[in-house]
Amino acid sequence: MPSLVGKSVLLIISGGIAAYKSLELIRLLRKNGASVRCVLTKGGSEFVTPLSVAALSEHPVYTDLFSLKDESEMGHIRLSREADLIVVAPASANLLSKMANGIADDLASTTLLASNKPIMVAPAMNPEMWAKPATQRNIDTLRKDGVYIVDPAHGEMACGETGRGRMIEATEILQSIENFLEASSPLSGFSALVTSGPTYEPIDPVRFIGNRSSGKQGHAIATALARAGATVTLVTGPVSLPDPVGVQTIHVETAHEMRDACLNALPSDLAVCAAAVADWRVKAPPEHKMKKQAGSAPPALNFTENPDILAMISSHQNRPKLVIGFAAETENARTAAQEKLIRKGCDWIIANQVGITEFPVFGSDHNQVTLVTRSICDDWPPLSKQEVATRLVDAIINHIKNTGSDQNDNAATGHPNFSTAV
Ligand code: CTP
Repeated sequence: MPSLVGKSVLLIISGGIAAYKSLELIRLLRKNGASVRCVLTKGGSEFVTPLSVAALSEHPVYTDLFSLKDESEMGHIRLSREADLIVVAPASANLLSKMANGIADDLASTTLLASNKPIMVAPAMNPEMWAKPATQRNIDTLRKDGVYIVDPAHGEMACGETGRGRMIEATEILQSIENFLEASSPLSGFSALVTSGPTYEPIDPVRFIGNRSSGKQGHAIATALARAGATVTLVTGPVSLPDPVGVQTIHVETAHEMRDACLNALPSDLAVCAAAVADWRVKAPPEHKMKKQAGSAPPALNFTENPDILAMISSHQNRPKLVIGFAAETENARTAAQEKLIRKGCDWIIANQVGITEFPVFGSDHNQVTLVTRSICDDWPPLSKQEVATRLVDAIINHIKNTGSDQNDNAATGHPNFSTAV
């Protein structure tokens, strides 16, 4: 799999002849699976055009702090928050100076100041400018602030002078990005199985019984696990969502198909069963469409129970070390979840109350859940489904860090503020 699948990079291109190398960097990042958004400073746009940057990144280019269009599409705060890594290449002496001094007077410098993400800079300037005490002071400050500097190379400059100041090649910046992101992939080397969406159980060849699950929560969890570096297999029922980038996605319809796909995906280090699997299926769906008979009563459907996939995974000989289920309840979510945890033999349950009118969960982009383990109930505040996914992955990482391969429920409390004893 390409090295940067599921990763997103915000590339800030400032003014300098080396900006042409950034076009190659965008191409290489995309080729390796990363999604790339770009900010072009006024100086940068003197060297490369917004059109070529947009064409290569396949996203609009952001240039202006006060552009109503840019801000309404993706504001500078969101730009700075959605990337896994911000790369400034080339980083001019001027932009480095602004960064070191907290100046925010254009989109690039404001985005950098507003960011809570790791920042990597690839300086590019004339050797005299690089050697000046002012620049070196700024570089020292940035290093102390935690900015990752990829030092410029020695060689002949575009201006004809020779010395240190050339921006390193795009392939070398790519390598630094890969190394950096690999080190920040805590689930690298872990495999994860995720189920998502509803199942459709046929009544006859044209009709089925389904449910309201949109798959948004399960897909968000698969994406968040992949972003954390896990190798993810997603088994999904029929949904109208695109397959998550960098996730091996298997499409199924019925509970039986979902069970087969899940058992095929074992062994796996962890499993998250977020699918709303139909509890029952029609015992013997007819081969042909059922027809209305004039004057006769509606047909009676004869049901039989579907396999419980979560319980099967929990008791499998290749049981994942951590098995997480969901519990969609319309009343007493906590109590029902605790009972389900024991009955199904999983380690954690994410319980959510569904069907209440003030907070509909099915199809919504939000969720309010409780993480239930054998020893704790941890109420999370209302969050977007992406945030629930990120928080769950954080709890998984915490658990793995605290326990190694052992099971220890208390490690799930990554967010003690919300913990309440059972
Ligand atoms: N689940 C499963 N296979 C089934 C039914 C449920 O894997 N046949 C999993 C779901 O993916 C979820 C958990 O079991 O992780 C609980 O699902 P839920 O529908 O809340 O529970 P049910 O077992 O269906 O119990 P009930 O409908 O009685 O609440």
